[in-house]
Amino acid sequence: MTIPPLPRPLLLKPGDPEAVRELFERIAPRYDQLNDLLSLGLHRLWKRQAVAWLRPRSGQHLLDLCCGTGDLALILATKVRPAGRVLGLDAAQAPLDLARRRAVAQPWLALQWQQGDALATGLADASQDGAVMAYGLRNLADPAAALRELRRLLRPGARAAVLDFNRPDLAAGLPAQAADRFQRFYLRQLVVPAARLAGLPEEYAYLEASLERFPLAAEQRLLAREAGFRQVAHRPLAAGLMGMLELVA
Ligand SMILES: C[S@@+](CC[C@H](N)C(=O)[O-])C[C@H]1O[C@@H](n2cnc3c(N)ncnc32)[C@H](O)[C@@H]1O
Repeated sequence: MTIPPLPRPLLLKPGDPEAVRELFERIAPRYDQLNDLLSLGLHRLWKRQAVAWLRPRSGQHLLDLCCGTGDLALILATKVRPAGRVLGLDAAQAPLDLARRRAVAQPWLALQWQQGDALATGLADASQDGAVMAYGLRNLADPAAALRELRRLLRPGARAAVLDFNRPDLAAGLPAQAADRFQRFYLRQLVVPAARLAGLPEEYAYLEASLERFPLAAEQRLLAREAGFRQVAHRPLAAGLMGMLELVA
C-alpha cells in the first residue's frame, strides 16, 4: 500500500487556537455531512459509546466540551429530562449556531450553548455531574491543561468520556504499525479527496497534522491521572483507529 504525501503544503498550524477556531468556523456548514460520509456513519456509534460510559441520569447537569454542532449534547439532553440540563461549549460561533438551530426543533430539551475556551471555561468548580468531549482534545493547544480543566469542573465521582482519533503506538508492534498505515491511507486517500469535493482539502489535511502532535493512549492516561482523575482507562475503538478515555473524577 503506497501512501501519497499530503496534497498541499499545510498552512494551518495545529495547536494555534485562533487558526483552529477559524478552521471550524469555515468547515461548519459541511461538517456533519462530511462526518457521516467519512466515517460511514460510525461516528454516531462511537458517540453512543461515550454516552454509555457516562450513564446519564434524569436531573443531571452535563457538559459537552468542544460540542461542535451538538451531536452529543442533543443525545445527552434526552437522557437528563425532565429536570436536568446540558451545556454545550465550543470556541467557534458557526457550529454553535447550527447546534442552536437543531435544538430549536426539540424545544422540550434543556440545552444551553456557550461560546468559550475548553481550557478556561469560566464554569464553577465541581458544577457538572458528567462531561463528554468528542474530537476536541486533539484540537486543543494544551491537552494536559484541558484534562485539568475537565477534572476541575466535575463533582467527585462524576464520569467523563473523551473520544478522539487514536494515534497508534508504533513501538507496540505489527498490529499498531498496520493501524498507522491504514490510518494514513484513510486520511490521505479518502478524507482529503472527499474534502476536496467540498472545497476544503487543506482543512481536512489538518486532521493528520493534528494527530501527529496528539498524545498516545498511554500518555493520555498519564495526563488524566496527573489531572486528578481517580479512575482512568483508554479504550481502543474501531480496531485502534479511534480511542476513548473513560474517566472518573
Ligand atoms: C472536530 S470538532 C468536534 C465537534 C463535536 N464534538 C463532534 O464530535 O461532532 C472539534 C470542535 O472543537 C472546537 N474547539 C476547538 N478548539 C476549542 C477550544 N479551545 N475550546 C472549545 N472548543 C474548541 C471546534 O470549534 C470544533 O467545533
